[in-house]
Amino acid sequence: MEYIKFLIEKARCYSLSTIVRLELESLVMGLLSVVPTILGVALRASASKLFFKQIDGFAWIQPRVTIIHAERIVSGTHLGINSGTYINGVGGIQFGNHVLIGNNVTISSGEHPINGAQPPIFSRLVRPKKIVINDDVWIGAGAVIMPGITLAKGTVIGANAIVTKDTEEYSVYVGVPARKIKDRRDMACKQDLA
Ligand SMILES: CC(C)(COP(=O)(O)OP(=O)(O)OC[C@H]1O[C@@H](n2cnc3c(N)ncnc32)[C@H](O)[C@@H]1OP(=O)(O)O)[C@@H](O)C(=O)NCCC(=O)NCCS
Repeated sequence: MEYIKFLIEKARCYSLSTIVRLELESLVMGLLSVVPTILGVALRASASKLFFKQIDGFAWIQPRVTIIHAERIVSGTHLGINSGTYINGVGGIQFGNHVLIGNNVTISSGEHPINGAQPPIFSRLVRPKKIVINDDVWIGAGAVIMPGITLAKGTVIGANAIVTKDTEEYSVYVGVPARKIKDRRDMACKQDLA
């Protein structure tokens, strides 16, 4: 009974149309997320066109990807998302063109306020924090992009990194918290000279 009361309280934060849309998104994306083969990829690409706020071109979404609040997600062309990744657009997410996201990555654009002992965090409203992921970004497996972060054009995030600060263009970041280890443009120069 207590839990039902809590659910009703939470539902009050949303309009009926939002609840219906979120449930429909969860149903369709959830069912399509388990469809294997190229057919599954094609079905998920079509569903993204329906649920995303805007998506240009084609999204290549592997099985078992979770996307919530797609209506607050905007993407350019060539978005690739690998299996097991969790994307929550509650605070808004903007993907540029040619963004490649590895497996088991977390990109969640909302935060639970933690200040003060009461009320319990579970019952607090999520604070929206927009994430921007610019053109030509590659995010390695298992990485976490914290709410409010901007990944600059050409950023590479290493496997299992936790990104807590905005990144610089064409830079490679690894570790927890993620630190810059190199500039991709320097790597290209060295290879050209070799
Ligand atoms: C970040 C990455 C692209 C860097 O590749 P690279 O330029 O070849 O880097 P290097 O192998 O020369 O490593 C440079 C240094 O960073 C360290 N490093 C590399 N990747 C790291 C990572 N993910 N976490 C922590 N340290 C890392 C290396 O140990 C090395 O440290 P050292 O100089 O002390 O020896 C790569 O290591 C990576 O993590 N790729 C993601 C792979 C992946 O997730 N694939 C599946 C999803 S599509």
